[in-house]
Amino acid sequence: MSTLEQSRYLATAIPGPRSAALIDRKGAAVARGIGNTMPVYAARAAGGIVEDVDGNRFIDLGSGIAVTTIGNASPRVVAAVSAQAAEFTHTCFMVTPYEQYVAVCEHLNRLTPVAGEKRSALFNSGSEAVENAVKIARAYTRKQAVVSFDHAYHGRTNLTMALTAKSMPYKHGFGPFASEIYRAPMSYPFRDAEFGKELATDGELAARRALSIIDKQVGADNLAAVIIEPIQGEGGFIVPAEGFLPTLLQWCRDNGVVFIADEVQTGFARTGAMFACEHEGIDPDLIVTAKGIADGLPLSAVTGRAEIMDSPHVGGLGGTYGGNPLACAAALATIDTIESDGLVERAREIETLMKDRLGRLQADDDRIGDVRGRGAMIAVELVKSGTVEPDADLTKALLAGAHAAGVIVLSCGTYGNVLRFLPPLAISDELLEEGLDVLASVLADLR
Ligand SMILES: Cc1ncc(COP(=O)(O)O)c(C=O)c1O
Repeated sequence: MSTLEQSRYLATAIPGPRSAALIDRKGAAVARGIGNTMPVYAARAAGGIVEDVDGNRFIDLGSGIAVTTIGNASPRVVAAVSAQAAEFTHTCFMVTPYEQYVAVCEHLNRLTPVAGEKRSALFNSGSEAVENAVKIARAYTRKQAVVSFDHAYHGRTNLTMALTAKSMPYKHGFGPFASEIYRAPMSYPFRDAEFGKELATDGELAARRALSIIDKQVGADNLAAVIIEPIQGEGGFIVPAEGFLPTLLQWCRDNGVVFIADEVQTGFARTGAMFACEHEGIDPDLIVTAKGIADGLPLSAVTGRAEIMDSPHVGGLGGTYGGNPLACAAALATIDTIESDGLVERAREIETLMKDRLGRLQADDDRIGDVRGRGAMIAVELVKSGTVEPDADLTKALLAGAHAAGVIVLSCGTYGNVLRFLPPLAISDELLEEGLDVLASVLADLR
């Protein structure tokens, strides 16, 4: 384990002088479109702490957007990647294959809640894996249309921009987008409540609303795949009402449509199960993974039923770097760490701690409209006092206050009013509680 001290500490105002100088250099060298959440530059990270170049130590409640789930620079990963780098860094799996790639696929096939015989293929980013899942579904069904949902986020490449719902900042000015993509209404219990209690609590009803649109506006005969995040990430950590996902899946099964679960953000212990689909007992046809799979090394995957995965012709899938050996070594060490250290269980403990603390905060503060999520993927939705009207300004102010006080926390949501927590599972209870105390005090000061 790195020697990085596990405590919050502010050595300078935020940003300190070294970060400020780097912010200036960035402005002159890096394209403006690449934004930053934090006004500081990282120097080291481990456990629940990120240290910046000025020696400030931040409590990490973001994990680099759900990536360093097992803890940054986790010891087994560091050892495995260093050892692999000394052997070889790249051959291209399509040219001279290597065992590590096969081993990662074997683990994915063992761990994912897909039924029957399975196959996997490895890629680099979440977006790239989503693109490949769609390619595979189209090859298998020989159909073209794909349905995604309101509030969905599936990436920033051309096809995945089309699947993603929110225009600003992800799509604005970047069209035209890929064709044959259609959108259906999501189950969003907190906001569906405006349209009646039943819709908010009855997932089957919410699914029937979506399916009626899919049926009438696309038609199963044209539809290759339905893609959905079992808990939506960027869209606002939206947990659909119980029954929503199984009803959609059953309809797909009955109609020859491939059901793709995008578990890029929810996968690998994040939600208190190895995969979020397990919470609803569903077995998707294809599962897309990335982020938490390799503790920060770029790796993603599509895993699914063998007959679907094997439908593209030989040579139809691939890419220069997909399943790079360093990333595979990191993934093998990550999976080992999750299983040997009981991190699925740890994510559930974090859920209990956070929901208890945030629930108490909500009881005394009518600007917290909703506390939701599973495992170490928890959010609060901020609203104008006592209403359901989103409060994006309060969210921005709360984020800025938390950052200045030494806590890394992110926002999300279609309306920009959701504070999301994605702590590494290696964080201590003490640091987590301190991070939440800081947020509570910043929120109180914003009255
Ligand atoms: C659910 C989901 N799908 C896809 C992506 C895209 O992944 P990447 O940024 O690695 O391309 C993300 C990234 O946030 C995501 O949360």
